[in-house]
Amino acid sequence: MTKRREFIKHLSLISALPFLARFSSNATGRVFSNIEIKRLKDLAKAKNLFYGCAVNNRIFNDYGYDALIAGQCNMIVCENAMKWAALRPTPHTFDFGIADTYLQFAEKNKIQMRGHNLCWHESIPKWLAATITTTNAQEMLTEHIERVVKHYAGQMHSWDVVNEAIDIHANNDSGLRTKSIWFEMLGEEYIEIAFKTAAANDNKALMTYNDYGLETDSEKRRRVLDLIDRLKTKGIRIDALGTQAHLDGVGFVNNFSANEYQLFLNDAADMGLKIFITELDVNDQQLPNNNDDRDLGVAHVYRDFLNVALTNPAVYGLLTWGITDRYSWLDHIKPRTDRLPQRPLPFDEHLQPKAAFNAIADVFERLK
Ligand code: G3I
Repeated sequence: MTKRREFIKHLSLISALPFLARFSSNATGRVFSNIEIKRLKDLAKAKNLFYGCAVNNRIFNDYGYDALIAGQCNMIVCENAMKWAALRPTPHTFDFGIADTYLQFAEKNKIQMRGHNLCWHESIPKWLAATITTTNAQEMLTEHIERVVKHYAGQMHSWDVVNEAIDIHANNDSGLRTKSIWFEMLGEEYIEIAFKTAAANDNKALMTYNDYGLETDSEKRRRVLDLIDRLKTKGIRIDALGTQAHLDGVGFVNNFSANEYQLFLNDAADMGLKIFITELDVNDQQLPNNNDDRDLGVAHVYRDFLNVALTNPAVYGLLTWGITDRYSWLDHIKPRTDRLPQRPLPFDEHLQPKAAFNAIADVFERLK
């Protein structure tokens, strides 16, 4: 039997378990699952790793969703609530109201929290784009980072200080993203300004550089490590690398080299960087419309990627970008042509575990 058939049989069996359990009911005929669904946070912790997810504001009014997060995660990150657009309604106000409630949720459930993000070319408030100049840009950036990092000082596991600063399609020697208000106003220096300001206001949180495409793009990997090397050479504190891992359900298997990615992770580790998988999900746009086939194709990618990423000693944990298909950015930004909702995450829209959940659990359990 081919490895794939074996894998599918293995996963199908496991993924059938919760379903089979549903048929076990007690005297009153109430259907209940007598098989406790595993908790990814426990499986991760048993291997000194964390598991978590990005959370959105439905956490406060979708009680199944928040219970699922509390049960499965020992790390969370706000999908949007700590971005500039969410925290800065006007040039003179900082609104921490909503973001603080996520932190209260995390503290209540003994979950650690990552901050995302302090400096990015997206999620720029309209007033900023309208008022920023080369003269006031540095003050605007440092004031924002100072206020936000100070507000959460000592409470954050890590901060994505700068997000997605590399764009290999940009025509400049360092591969820096030029279509960025921060680059346009301050040049490459904005990156060290951001890291210096963040590090000066929280000596506990791990200062992280976060980017996407590092799983399959060797040019981008090189550019990111070169950038971090330049900054570290100047004495800038960068503690961690965030590899987002927004993977493609079909493209991944054709473009991923386990060996090259492992070498990249080793290079990052040799620079003294901790590594976090920060935004893992699997885009199923190109996969068949049949749920079972799609779910297995997605699970295959989770397994193949995590079997490499999580075996590297410098990787400290993973977050999926969402936890249930009920809420995924992919439906809005990368919808399927057949208009079926995407199925990129470990739990389905009914908050039931999928083959992807079993694949993640399986990798955690098999880790040495
Ligand atoms: O909250 C407003 C709402 O009031 C308004 O009516 C609506 C109108 O468009 O917009 C809502 O804000 C949206 C926000 O998500 C909350 O839903 C923004 O328009 C929309 O642009 C924003 O998209 C987010 C995107 O980042 C841009 O910030 C996605 O949810 C989020 O998943 C995505 O996450 C990024 C990471 O931060 C960085 N890595 C890539 C990842 C995927 O793009």
